[in-house]
Amino acid sequence: MRPHRSSTHRGNPSGPGAGTDRTRSGGKVVPVGRSTEGWRRDDVAQTPTLLTGASLTIPTSASRTPRPAAVDPVAGATMTVAPATPGATRETMPLRGVAGALDDAFDALGVRLPSTGLQRSAVPIDARWLGGVENAQEVRGAALVDLEGALPPGLRGTLLRNGPGRFDRGGERVPHWFDGDGGILRVTLDGRGAATTDYRFVRSKAYVDDEAAGRFTHPAFGYLPEGSPARRSLLRAKNPANTHIVAFGDRLLALYEGARPTALDAHTLDTVGEVDLGALGSSECFTAHPHTDADGRTFGFTYQPGPGGGASVVELGAGGEIERKVRLPGLKAPPHDFISAGPFLVFVESPTVTNALPALVGLRAISDGLGWNARGKTRIHVIDKSTLDVVVTGNAPPFSSAHFGGGRLEDDGTISFVAFIPDDNDPAGQSMARFSRGERTEVGGRPTRLHVDPKTGDIVGRVVLADERVEWPAEDPRDAGDGGPSLWCATQSSTSGYFDGYARLDRVSGIVDRAALRDGVFGNEPVVVVDADDPSRRWLVTVQYDSRADRSEFVVYDADALAKGAHYRGALPAVVPFGFHGSFVPAAR
Ligand SMILES: [Fe+2]
Repeated sequence: MRPHRSSTHRGNPSGPGAGTDRTRSGGKVVPVGRSTEGWRRDDVAQTPTLLTGASLTIPTSASRTPRPAAVDPVAGATMTVAPATPGATRETMPLRGVAGALDDAFDALGVRLPSTGLQRSAVPIDARWLGGVENAQEVRGAALVDLEGALPPGLRGTLLRNGPGRFDRGGERVPHWFDGDGGILRVTLDGRGAATTDYRFVRSKAYVDDEAAGRFTHPAFGYLPEGSPARRSLLRAKNPANTHIVAFGDRLLALYEGARPTALDAHTLDTVGEVDLGALGSSECFTAHPHTDADGRTFGFTYQPGPGGGASVVELGAGGEIERKVRLPGLKAPPHDFISAGPFLVFVESPTVTNALPALVGLRAISDGLGWNARGKTRIHVIDKSTLDVVVTGNAPPFSSAHFGGGRLEDDGTISFVAFIPDDNDPAGQSMARFSRGERTEVGGRPTRLHVDPKTGDIVGRVVLADERVEWPAEDPRDAGDGGPSLWCATQSSTSGYFDGYARLDRVSGIVDRAALRDGVFGNEPVVVVDADDPSRRWLVTVQYDSRADRSEFVVYDADALAKGAHYRGALPAVVPFGFHGSFVPAAR
């Protein structure tokens, strides 16, 4: 439970930069609008409009109502598990059975197409960060080796991280970072100065099949394997389970937004198999970004790809099963992330266009069918947490943000959150693909605080918090769902090639503290952990790759004193490739 919440923690919409056409970033004046071409001046109010004459009752955190009865009751449903993945050959979808029969027919006719997108392995490229995008090695129960400082005794629990860990097979390399097989890093901290580490691949069906074949055999986001059109069709698409890992009690779920979650054994990290969470359809996908509020409620969404599909908002129970599921009408392009803000959820739907047909029939990879409609609108869907119904949908100029942070209901009635808005809209994540191929690129976006009117869905305020590209927002778990004054994130200097620093971002003042990494060291997403012995202290926990030593390190910062540098560094027993997202599970008291 959160121990603190007072008005002094709330953002000040009339603070620095308010009422002008310029904003401040850590004392530096930054022109507004640089990163969001298409915003009209009358779309941008530096002082978020005070809402008056509200016809909508906005419950405050204090008056949050108890959970209502399920709208779409699935409570009590048993979480079912697909056939054990290792060695599994049975297709779970009727259409996949059809694809298998078609594949046999194509084989009989000798119809086979060459792979698309896959690249030759071992192309020498001079990019220092590429050591963090190489095949990982599995590790079991190895000790962390101290390099600098000591582990804080109050840092007790388990860090779990997920990310692509297998990129090369049979002399071929996946062209897109998103397509590496999921690998789970676990660092267990005992509070007495010792830590053990494990790294295990997720044994997805594609991983098992590829291992057996010695090559890539399933179509993926950025490539198609050699084979018949049926073998390459979306009906057999790979679920690499590589994007996030979350814990619900003793259940671990490895998440990938284009498929069902994959359950793992919490003790051994063995793969159990795909799960339906009690309410997912046979080909229904589950978000890689569920959000758990400080009060323990977890929200997420599902979507059914293809014609006639659609999205639903869900609330999960303590065991990770879906307890409520309500259709989200009108959402065509599911976002990667969403916002939890007081009594609301907010879905920001960018004008991405998708042509899935070539992928469905096995002629093009999924990423080839994604585009951006520069004349379109970004749609803002505001959802009432108590009912999971859409309250209103508003329109904004086209913009995108992969992730969001710091969602909260402001005293003026607006919903605020921080988006990370890039100059170049990139629905297929091509900047990440280039990075994983060793090309210098920029990732992330300008941190921008947006204010949404929950009566109209319109954006009524926008403040650029820093004139640099940052990503991987993290917040104090006690503030989740009703954001506190600070967000933490990874930063990238213009010449580094990947993230090479961390920053604390004040929602009013911009970047107020930062840690720069040593030359040749690159960072991952940070996680904020509250000290178990002293709740006034909090730690920023992350994993870094030192390209000079070709070594991954577990690193701890004092979250409120980043400029002091690392509080602790420990060497991991093997390089852990750069990852996406992770969680920290505090030790039981
Ligand atoms: Fe993400």
